[in-house]
Amino acid sequence: MRKKVVAGNWKCNTTVAEGIALAKEVNDKVTAQDVVVVLGTPFTHITEVVKTVTNKAISVAAQNCAAEAKGAFTGEVSAAMVASTGAKYVILGHSERREYYGETSAILNKKLALALENNLTPIYCCGEALAIREAGTQNEYVINQLKETIFTLSVEDFKKIIIAYEPIWAIGTGKTATTEQAQEMHKAIRDAIAAQFGNEVAQETSILYGGSCNAQNAQELFANPDVDGGLIGGASLKAGDFNIIINAF
Ligand code: PGA
Repeated sequence: MRKKVVAGNWKCNTTVAEGIALAKEVNDKVTAQDVVVVLGTPFTHITEVVKTVTNKAISVAAQNCAAEAKGAFTGEVSAAMVASTGAKYVILGHSERREYYGETSAILNKKLALALENNLTPIYCCGEALAIREAGTQNEYVINQLKETIFTLSVEDFKKIIIAYEPIWAIGTGKTATTEQAQEMHKAIRDAIAAQFGNEVAQETSILYGGSCNAQNAQELFANPDVDGGLIGGASLKAGDFNIIINAF
């Protein structure tokens, strides 16, 4: 059975003290047993949040890692450093990183390799911009993002990946994909995984939806057969809303 996952992406929000308070609130609220809960915190918070989280259902993620193992790369944080904090996951390929920081498939392949070498589970993001959706070529576009990156991994490594489909036009806009749009893309992704790695692997891969997923719409989105959870931005900053999403399966 593939895992149900709800991952929070705090982005560039909260001070360390605020982040600890938020993590503690989530830690105390979550009672779900069959959902993997992940808190994607800023780098500065990870060590403290790892210490704060005692609830076995909850793990911590970084939102990025360096494309180099170590060395003279001022300001970068390596996958080994992330792993040394006790974080177990790393979000890679978020559209904000692709768009604002020029992350290409080539860079993401280096990050994926380093994350996997350091036993971090990548939450790998993909998704199309509005113009691509309007042109009707979103499926090809997203599958191509996967072909250039995670589909080049060995089957052993691919099995460790969690995929997050995040249509860019839905991120932070309050405009969610309809359940039909989400299900259609998730099924297209799962079919592509089956073609690449076989049906058994495809059935075991968790594919999360992201983009204005919130306490009101999570249940409808998660009810889709190929939606295995969510990557949650804005709504993950409120422990109560985040917990409603965790309980939305
Ligand atoms: P949002 O962000 O939930 O605020 O739309 C999702 C994400 O970017 O991961």
